[in-house]
Amino acid sequence: WPYLLTAAVAGYLLGAIPFGLLLTRLTGAGDLRRIGSGNIGATNVLRTGRKDLAAATLLLDGGKGALAVLVAGCWGPDMALSAGLAAVVGHLFPIWLRFKGGKGVATTLGTLLAIAWPLGLATCGAWLLVAAVTRYSSLAALLSLAAAPALAWWLLGDLQLVEFAGILAILAWLRHADNIRRLLRGDEPRIGQRKPEQK
Ligand code: G3P
Repeated sequence: WPYLLTAAVAGYLLGAIPFGLLLTRLTGAGDLRRIGSGNIGATNVLRTGRKDLAAATLLLDGGKGALAVLVAGCWGPDMALSAGLAAVVGHLFPIWLRFKGGKGVATTLGTLLAIAWPLGLATCGAWLLVAAVTRYSSLAALLSLAAAPALAWWLLGDLQLVEFAGILAILAWLRHADNIRRLLRGDEPRIGQRKPEQK
């Protein structure tokens, strides 16, 4: 277990790097905490009007999850799972931001892609499909991540991955409580929209 703990700590520290916040601050694009949902993820970076920074945030937040898994995976599959989960937890509760982090969607997708690419691709595909149809980033995350455990079972038949995807989905759903409330009220902003829906 000392190795699992090391992988978890390293994964956590990597996951805790808030790329969205760093990129927007370094480029003077604005204070993410005061824009849109106040979240530090790519969806909210897009609300600054900077598509390039949003794309970079998506890639870097996804990449840190994937990197944690790939490096730890050199020491075995359990290490990969431990580091991947820790990277997502790091993004959600970063020590650098007094544990007030993001919602973990990009990091979860990057982690799933690196753990088992068919599962990652299918989950990304589900995200894209829901986002294309509804234009809601949060709904795309909620539905695609809820489907991930079923996809893990269907595509890979691996119970450990079903559990892993299930834990990540529960974490994401818990972090989307405000989005769920807004979706139910009908005032969740659509992708790229800065202000809530006009009634
Ligand atoms: O990936 C986060 C997304 O699901 C919701 O982001 O900024 O609309 O709360 P946001």
